[in-house]
Amino acid sequence: MAARKIKENVYYVGAIDWHRRLFDSLIPLPDGTSYNSYLVKGSEKTALIDTVDETRQHELLANLEDAGVETIDYVISNHTEQDHSGLIPLILKKYPGARVVTNPKCKDLVKEHILLTDDQFIVKNDGETLSLGDKTLQFILAPWVHWPETMFTYLVEDKILFSCDFLGSHLAPAELFVEDISAFYDGAKRYYAEIMMPFATNVRKHLEKIRSMDVEIIGPSHGPIHVNPQPILDAYTDWSSDEVKNEVVIPFVSMHGSTEKMVEHLTDQLVRRGITAKPFDLVKTDTGVLAMALVDAATVVIGAPTVLVGAHPKAIYAAALANALRPKTRFIGVIGSFGWGSRMLDQLKGILCNLSAEMLTPVIVKGYPKADDLSALERLADEILEKHKEANIAV
Ligand code: FEO
Repeated sequence: MAARKIKENVYYVGAIDWHRRLFDSLIPLPDGTSYNSYLVKGSEKTALIDTVDETRQHELLANLEDAGVETIDYVISNHTEQDHSGLIPLILKKYPGARVVTNPKCKDLVKEHILLTDDQFIVKNDGETLSLGDKTLQFILAPWVHWPETMFTYLVEDKILFSCDFLGSHLAPAELFVEDISAFYDGAKRYYAEIMMPFATNVRKHLEKIRSMDVEIIGPSHGPIHVNPQPILDAYTDWSSDEVKNEVVIPFVSMHGSTEKMVEHLTDQLVRRGITAKPFDLVKTDTGVLAMALVDAATVVIGAPTVLVGAHPKAIYAAALANALRPKTRFIGVIGSFGWGSRMLDQLKGILCNLSAEMLTPVIVKGYPKADDLSALERLADEILEKHKEANIAV
């Protein structure tokens, strides 16, 4: 791809990674991703805002050439992670006068991660600015969306906010600029669920700050550029709010059909009660889709058979994922089966320790579920409906 103009003397010079299918050896990328890097040419100085993943070196260099870069004076580092900082050493080598501009915490982390020295940095604190001549960069600390050192860079004259990972999406966009939220909504929600959801309190705080600023364009570090910022800000406001939906997410795994039968029965009983049930077979489920479902659901019920007295490892993984992502789930249930004995309830409760959710009555049965067991699942559906009503989630 070529360098693309955003405004006069402001260019997109990032890399589109169409074919990447896994991030952090963890996060599925069904739609690829992009590593967004921005070039700002002032009348006196030129700044590069973040670099790209080191696997895309050729693309960054080609785009800088395409944008007619003669020199780079500053590399702004909004965030330490290597998908953005990975090529800082290359830029410093290619443009020997360049310095890395970042905040004190990011400097410490960048030094550790990509092995730079103190003299290669210029440090800026919250609200401080850097003049490029006729353009001014302002640095805004935005800790914990999603690392402690993350910051935004605001291009004052052009009213562009470079928001780092915040408000991004793992998409490989042919169309770099989006106005219509339907073009990026699912990608942005998946990204929010996987990366930003554990930090909902900070998300709300930083949203408020952005809304108080005069921002016309938001350029995140992944995915399309928001030339109409309102839809993505509204979507983040919705996802990070305390509001939950009348939904039950049921991540489950089954070995010989007992747990699957229980999940089917519970799903049917929830639907009969007007509750949206979303079962996810963990053998087949893209964890990003499961994470997206966790954003809104009032209740999560984990379904698992017992393996050597503990929960099936795939259910343990789902519980650990939910615990790490810290969704706003209000109620948690455990259903499942065992052959001769099970300690999976205590095990799963222990794993879910980060969630301040109320435990529902568990239904854990010996062997294949019988009439009494199915009745217990109907009582669980009643309990969920009652809890949702008490919390004004269901009518
Ligand atoms: Fe896109 Fe947190 O790195």
